[in-house]
Amino acid sequence: MRTAIAHWGNGLGIEGLASRRVAWEVLRRVHADGAWSTLALSTALGRAGLDARDRAFTANLAYSTLRWEGTLDWALAQVLSRPICEVEPALLDVLRLGAWQVLYGGTPDRAAVGTAVDLARSAVGPRATGFTNAVLRGLARARERLPWPGPGTNEGLGLVLGYPGWVVAEARERFGDRARAMLEAGNEAPGVTLRATGCPEALIAELATAGLDAAPGLHAPEAVYAPGADPSTLAAVAEGRAVAQDEASMLVSRVAVAGLAPGALALDACAAPGGKSTHLAHLGARVIAADLRPGRARLVAAAAARLRLRVPVVVADGLAPPWRPGAFDLVLIDAPCTGLGTVRRRPEVRWRRHPGDPARMGALQLALLERAAPLVRPGGRLLYSVCTWPRAETAEVARAFLAAHGDRFKAEDLNLTGAGTCLPGDPGTQLATDRDGTDTMYLCAFRAH
Ligand SMILES: C[S@@+](CC[C@H](N)C(=O)[O-])C[C@H]1O[C@@H](n2cnc3c(N)ncnc32)[C@H](O)[C@@H]1O
Repeated sequence: MRTAIAHWGNGLGIEGLASRRVAWEVLRRVHADGAWSTLALSTALGRAGLDARDRAFTANLAYSTLRWEGTLDWALAQVLSRPICEVEPALLDVLRLGAWQVLYGGTPDRAAVGTAVDLARSAVGPRATGFTNAVLRGLARARERLPWPGPGTNEGLGLVLGYPGWVVAEARERFGDRARAMLEAGNEAPGVTLRATGCPEALIAELATAGLDAAPGLHAPEAVYAPGADPSTLAAVAEGRAVAQDEASMLVSRVAVAGLAPGALALDACAAPGGKSTHLAHLGARVIAADLRPGRARLVAAAAARLRLRVPVVVADGLAPPWRPGAFDLVLIDAPCTGLGTVRRRPEVRWRRHPGDPARMGALQLALLERAAPLVRPGGRLLYSVCTWPRAETAEVARAFLAAHGDRFKAEDLNLTGAGTCLPGDPGTQLATDRDGTDTMYLCAFRAH
């Protein structure tokens, strides 16, 4: 176990309490406030004033602990003398950080335990130090004889790979023999991908001037891969020359406008925070961006303003759309989903979702497509995309839509220049981190006639 994933520990030294305290704050915001780790980390790092090495250590510690949370809780439960649910949440997060270092981080046991005890004292109080010391010492002693259930079952493989058993079962169902590779790819730390809003070569040169290695992306011409960049600190992002966006999302907008006349009228019915709306506008569409939630709709308006694009933003429920039939050349339903295809960037998403969620989200996605269908003019396109992969949210939704609307819509062949896989019996295309190096995003285009 330690050997198999030892790469997470490479280069980790015995950084100080400040880094661990920041990582703990991130975990608290994720667990207590439901924050996304990326935003919580960026806020916490912004306040902390750590140097570059400590920032990297902190990010790795926080993301890795979130990624392996289920396995860490299972391992801690083996040495705890009371049920893990009885450990106070703030202290449990201290233990998780310590357990990750003991099991995976390559940190010497003395340092992992000692720094966890210091963190417990500073974050929870002196009363927590003895308990923290005892639990983590117990874990270090038990490390080589933990009763791993073996990877034959979904739960067992989930412990090895850092996923809930039900997600492993879903992956086996959808990807068959590829399931393990797919899930492992979701544990890789993603590099940063930027969408150049002007000339990609100029953006690469600008990043090089700032000391950053950057290269063209793999799939979309506007994609620039900038592994070491922090988008929140880049002038190119602040000044609208670049947008942080995964290439899978760029491919969705490219597919959306393929073959449409310049100036075609597009509705992005689930638009916030506006990544695809603004991309569609850059690609020449006239876009109306809609979202159910006013606060999120404001994010689209802010993104369009930063990029100096005219994108009218409307607060509207896609289940009761206020537009006349046939109003649009293109309707994009980039639907709310489980988000399991984004685990590289949001490692906690796997622990936030529950077994019934794919079917529940799939039903909502189908309802959104049903309501959007009349808005597409004859000859126009309805594009369905989700940043996830369980069958109930992807293939089953596309198939159910075609079963009900096959008289008016046909699934289109997508020209993704080699990216994506058409899985058996699925009218759409599944991009996947293991094969494409992108988020595991699904898309299916329907042409109206
Ligand atoms: C996956 S996100 C969209 C991401 C966005 N297209 C982008 O590329 O930046 C899904 C969005 O759907 C919105 N949403 C959820 N239910 C909706 C509904 N019934 N009608 C319209 N929007 C909805 C959510 O508020 C959320 O912003």
